Amino acid sequence: MSSAVSGSSKATDHLWMHFTRMSSYDTAPVPTIERGEGAYIFDTNGKRYLDALSGLFTVQAGHGRVELAEAAAEQAKKLAYFPIWSYAHPAAIELADRLAALAPGDLNKVFFSTGGAESVETAWKVAKQFYKLTGKPGKHKVISRAIAYHGTTQGALSITGIPPFKEAFEPLMGGTFRVPNTNFYRAPEHLADDEKAFGLWAANRIEEAILHEGPDTVCAVFLEPVQNAGGCFPPPPGYFQRVREICDEYDVLLVSDETICAYGRLGTMFGAQKFDYQPDIITTAKGLTSGYSPLGAAIISDRIYEPFGKGNTMFGHGYTFGGHPVSCAVALANLDLFEREDLLGNVLRNENPFRQTLEKLYDLPIVGNVRGDGYFYGIEIVKDKATKETFSADESERVLRGFLSKALFDAGLYCRADDRGDPVIQVAPPLICDQSHFDEMEQILRDVLTRAWQLL
Ligand SMILES: Cc1ncc(COP(=O)(O)O)c(C=O)c1O
Repeated sequence: MSSAVSGSSKATDHLWMHFTRMSSYDTAPVPTIERGEGAYIFDTNGKRYLDALSGLFTVQAGHGRVELAEAAAEQAKKLAYFPIWSYAHPAAIELADRLAALAPGDLNKVFFSTGGAESVETAWKVAKQFYKLTGKPGKHKVISRAIAYHGTTQGALSITGIPPFKEAFEPLMGGTFRVPNTNFYRAPEHLADDEKAFGLWAANRIEEAILHEGPDTVCAVFLEPVQNAGGCFPPPPGYFQRVREICDEYDVLLVSDETICAYGRLGTMFGAQKFDYQPDIITTAKGLTSGYSPLGAAIISDRIYEPFGKGNTMFGHGYTFGGHPVSCAVALANLDLFEREDLLGNVLRNENPFRQTLEKLYDLPIVGNVRGDGYFYGIEIVKDKATKETFSADESERVLRGFLSKALFDAGLYCRADDRGDPVIQVAPPLICDQSHFDEMEQILRDVLTRAWQLL
């Protein structure tokens, strides 16, 4: 039955949108996207927008790629569905083999899921059971970073470091602890001029947390190569190398949560390869299929898998749609496309021009910091560039939610204005993008940020 609320539409009557203040659509229409082509999306009125967020950090190959749609159709015609619970199908076998070959070091076992949070859940459960199987049953706790987002299922949400996202669902799982992230722009004063020293300091907070909780109780550290929430924090030089040393010293698994950073976002197949570290597990999803079908994968090292492969042991975990044949076929076609069009090379060739184009915005008084890597950038906006003073909660609400999000979209740029940490605008375009797209982004951002400053 339709609601009688004024301004309601079919969209708000029945569709409960994710992370959405539904009441904001009581009087305004729901932006409705119906078509995509390359780096652009089109709404139901035919208006065009530059998709500067790849949907949700997902559409690596761009929109409207017929070959990915055809790969899905072919697989659905041949075998639409079969589980990988004690059985296999060729697409899952071939994709696991391919991911193992692409992943760094001895990451050779692929456990499929349907998304990022499920991959994170998988990794935590692998870590807990691994230590039970190897004589350290007390190791179950997880260390993660402040403001980091790892998903919304209750385990992944427990690892997430964004208190406002968690409050409504407390109590969540115990045994998760936060350490500082790598936001160099907001580094403690005594480290503000030395990125390497800051990185070492931040990594050593992980050691401190492990020692505080007791090494016999900690099973894993979950870190993104470039942390998304808070606005794209790259790792300082040497950070991950020090984290690896700490994990080795205290026998704690290093889980690289690459739900966003894998599959070319940073110009390498996996984020760990960009920063030259070896995780024990990589968690992925999103870009694996460029979003043409849902799929996630946790990729696990031979060393961690080893006790699971013996005798009567089983990893009692799985998902009906994990390793779905259609999704695996799409992922294989997507990886073919990556190779044929050299998407990784495109990102590596363009990452400096992309950064330089965004850095032009530094001449605006509201732009405090431009940071990121590859095709993954955050632009932090501030009230005072010299002091780095940020906005009050009220101003943030007025500028970010009240003005920027809508003004950017109205101006033809789909991106993210985010206030999970300090206010940032995030851009993460499809990996096919080039200078013309960077210029378009910069021009729209310049115009809208100029207007936002005038509002203050
Ligand atoms: C680092 C990270 N982990 C996990 C997730 C959760 O992924 P999903 O929404 O597919 O469950 C996300 C989603 O953006 C993410 O960025």
